Amino acid sequence: ASTLGDAAAERGRYFGTAVAANRLGESDYTATLNREFNSVTAENEMKWDALEPSRGSFSYGNADRIVNHARAQGMDVRGHTLVWHSQLPGWVSGLGANDLRSAMNHHITQVMQHWRGQIHSWDVVNEAFQDGSSGARRPSPFQDRLGNGFIEEAFRTARAADPNAKLCYNDYNTDAINAKSNAVYAMVRDFKQRGVPIDCVGFQSHFNSGNPVPGDFRQNLQRFADLGVDVQITELDIEGSGTTQANHYRTVVEACLAVSRCTGITVWGVTDKYSWRSGGTPLLFDGNYNKKPAYDAVLTAL
Ligand code: XIL
Repeated sequence: ASTLGDAAAERGRYFGTAVAANRLGESDYTATLNREFNSVTAENEMKWDALEPSRGSFSYGNADRIVNHARAQGMDVRGHTLVWHSQLPGWVSGLGANDLRSAMNHHITQVMQHWRGQIHSWDVVNEAFQDGSSGARRPSPFQDRLGNGFIEEAFRTARAADPNAKLCYNDYNTDAINAKSNAVYAMVRDFKQRGVPIDCVGFQSHFNSGNPVPGDFRQNLQRFADLGVDVQITELDIEGSGTTQANHYRTVVEACLAVSRCTGITVWGVTDKYSWRSGGTPLLFDGNYNKKPAYDAVLTAL
C-alpha cells in the first residue's frame, strides 16, 4: 500500500489524525488528509467549551464540518471528548453536585445523540488520573463534587446515548507500566468485573526526550488488551527529527501491530506547522506537507 490508511487497513487497523475545522479550506492540508488517513479526531471542536459554551445551548457547526468531511471521505471518526477537566466552560465549574451531575449526563446524552451511529469510538472520560506515584484521581469539578463514581456514571450514560459507539477511557503518561497506568488498569479491571460498559482504552502517546517511547509500551498495551478491551494510540506525536524520530515512530507502530486488540493509531495533527507543540516538529509531514523520514518509517512498518 502507498498510503498510511491503506497500509493500516491491510493490517486490520485504522490510521488517523487530529483535524482542525478551520484548516479544511487549505488545499494542501485537505489533500494530505484525504490521501493518507482513514480516521479523524476533532482537535478541539468536540470539547465541552466548543459544543456547550453556555448551559443547554449547543453549537455543533465546526464539529459537524469535520464529521461531514470524514463521512464524505469514508473515514471513521473518533469522538473527543465528553468529560474532561480542561477546555471546560466556566459555568460547569460553578455548579453544585446535583446540578453538575445532571449537566454532565445531559451533555453526554445530547452530544452522543447528535452524532448517534456516526462515531466509531468516544473518549468518554479524558485524563482523570494524576501524574506521579500516587495513582490518585486528578482534582476536577467532577472528581471534587461527584467523587470516584463520576467515571462509571459517565460510561453508563454514554452507553445508553449511542449503543453503537465504542466507549474509551483516554489518558497520557499511561504508555509505560507505572503508577498512573496501574491506577487506570485497576479501574478498567474493576469496570469489566462489575459490568460497567467500557470498550477501549486510549493511550495519548505524546512523546519527547524526557518522555521517550517506553521500553514496555507493547507490554503495557497487551496487559490492558488482556482485560478484554481494545487499545488505541490516540494522540501520537514524537519530538525530534530525522532518523531518531523515525525509529521512535517505527517502535510505536510495531508495538501496536504486536497487540491484536490494538485497533488503530491517530497522530495529533497532519503537519508540523500546526502542531499544538509549538516550535516542535513532532509529526509525519513537515510544514510544506513533505513526507518526513518518520512517515517512511511508519509506512514501512505497517
Ligand atoms: C490540545 C490541542 O491540540 C490544542 O489545540 C489545544 O489548545 C489544547 O488541547 N491531550 C488531549 C488533547 O486530550 O485534547 C489536547 O489537545 C492535547 C493533550
